[in-house]
Amino acid sequence: MKRRTFSLLLLPFLVLLSTCRPSGQDAPPFDYVIGVSLANLTEPWRINMRDEINAEAARSHNLRIVFTDAADSNTRQIQDVQTLLRSGIDLLIISPNDSEALSPVIAEAYHKIPVILLDRSVIGFDYTLFIGPDNRLIGKQAGQYVSEMLGAKGGKIVEILGRSGSPPVLDRWVGFRDAIASKPDITIVGTIVADWLRDKAEDELTAWLKQNGRVDVIFAQNDAMADGARRAATKLGIEGIRVIGIDGLPGPNGGIEMVRQGNLFATFTCPTGGKEAIIYALDILHREEGIPKKMILRTSLVTKAAIESGALEAPARPRLSPDHRIVLGFAQTGAESNWRVANTDSIKTAARQAGIDLVFVDSHGQPQEQIAAVRSFIARRVDIIAFSPIVESGWEPVLREAKAAGIPVFLSDRNVDVKDESLWTTFMGSDFLEEGRRAARWLISYMKTNAPVNIVELLGTIGSAPELDRTSGFKEILKDYSNYRIIVSESGDFMRSNGKEVMQRILKELAAKGQKMDVLFAHNDDMAIGAISAMEAAGIKPGKDVAIVSVDAIRDAFTAMIAGKLNCSVECNPLLGPQLMKAVKDYMAGKDLPVRLITSEVVFPAEIARATLPTRKY
Ligand code: AHR
Repeated sequence: MKRRTFSLLLLPFLVLLSTCRPSGQDAPPFDYVIGVSLANLTEPWRINMRDEINAEAARSHNLRIVFTDAADSNTRQIQDVQTLLRSGIDLLIISPNDSEALSPVIAEAYHKIPVILLDRSVIGFDYTLFIGPDNRLIGKQAGQYVSEMLGAKGGKIVEILGRSGSPPVLDRWVGFRDAIASKPDITIVGTIVADWLRDKAEDELTAWLKQNGRVDVIFAQNDAMADGARRAATKLGIEGIRVIGIDGLPGPNGGIEMVRQGNLFATFTCPTGGKEAIIYALDILHREEGIPKKMILRTSLVTKAAIESGALEAPARPRLSPDHRIVLGFAQTGAESNWRVANTDSIKTAARQAGIDLVFVDSHGQPQEQIAAVRSFIARRVDIIAFSPIVESGWEPVLREAKAAGIPVFLSDRNVDVKDESLWTTFMGSDFLEEGRRAARWLISYMKTNAPVNIVELLGTIGSAPELDRTSGFKEILKDYSNYRIIVSESGDFMRSNGKEVMQRILKELAAKGQKMDVLFAHNDDMAIGAISAMEAAGIKPGKDVAIVSVDAIRDAFTAMIAGKLNCSVECNPLLGPQLMKAVKDYMAGKDLPVRLITSEVVFPAEIARATLPTRKY
């Protein structure tokens, strides 16, 4: 391991420095220098981010952290990153002031060193890892909570928004409105913009309440503004308004304390990711396997009752003897596709390499068999249960049994649809919605036409997460292009043989109706390959008469692209084994896991298939 020294003289413009090693002449050298570029240090949430980074870095013996504060200026933050790069940092952690403006300089940094984005992402994928909350989900959870609280009677709400143009503002706004959209008796009667600031919220709300009178709920997009709102109501002698915020920071002035004291009715935690950034920075610098592309942090509802009952505390982890071998029960969907075979292989290999005892069950595509497998893991008292759900629904009862037995559940590759999200610990896998969007975006740029386009869609297993999300993502993009029309949607169950059979039937039906197919969107490559043979048998030239885009990017798809029969494959990475084993080990070592780990993936159009094939691992 190289040992680093670092000259502070190289950093003439930095406004704030922190070191986790004693500085000065006698300070021993350190292994890594991490530059942290912050958008500002005025908002309490960002101060907390810095404090978390410092606290976690202080646990390491070999780190120097160098902070910069851009004071809300894009120009200044661009300069900060350039200065940090010139000074020779090993890794950059950045919380961008503005996603678009900072994208080029972040891309420049990424081509030299690893880059971790905190809280806000960039345009494109030029970064190593994104860590942050899901702001739309936080808004939605807040909306669901408010609508349950107001019940059938409904009520009036004033919302207080953060600074205009700041990405969380729009996401939280959309999420909140989505959640109350179906409740006609809940009305948002006022919207105030208070720039994340307590005093501004207090002034603006005082004026609003004087003019309009009492409401039932105030929903503020952060706790500082919620506190300002509460002060305004108290000052005017208005009682009984339930004030709800977001952030839930710890500490004497944080949102959790405000809820404990009854100043706020509730808040939702919005973790800063500072701690996770340092943990993952070290993993990246140590070149560990299993680093995801995105990590979404968990949000919890904070109420007085939750604080008092201890529900916010992380569940206790078992104390293990040093020679304890971790036992992981894994219930696989089956072996429906080449993707799945690669996924199984990755899990088995990674478990062996990590020294984890794997109890592997193949569920043969039968949801009931998979539920029985999970039950057998509970009976056997494995340390952790993981599975890739065949379908999203039907999991609530068995997951309750796992929770009651104190066995954590990790979702691999696919999600479950359960109301109580505490029934599972973490979910790692692809962003299926984005895969559907990517397929549609590629299609539009490939077809470049305003003429009518008839699309046939071969769906995956009905009710599975990839089937549901790929369809939604695909349609989401196509809705803005009225000339694109899905004329047939049928399931081929992710299987090559079914892809062929279903396509044979579709071709006959289309011929009988005198209809033409211009495009095939298949939810996986195997079904596309099956459909290709059906088209060839019917005298249709796949890839030419019909444009074909599918998902997975398995090796066979590359062969088909090189042969000119498939036009594009959107990657869905099955090599989840290392990520899963890392999460298992981290959990058993007492580390907190994010709610969602998203795999790194790209799109492969046919033009790059020949050059890319040799590098494909599955
Ligand atoms: O859940 C991932 C999907 O499952 C893959 O895209 C498909 O091939 C599969 O079997």
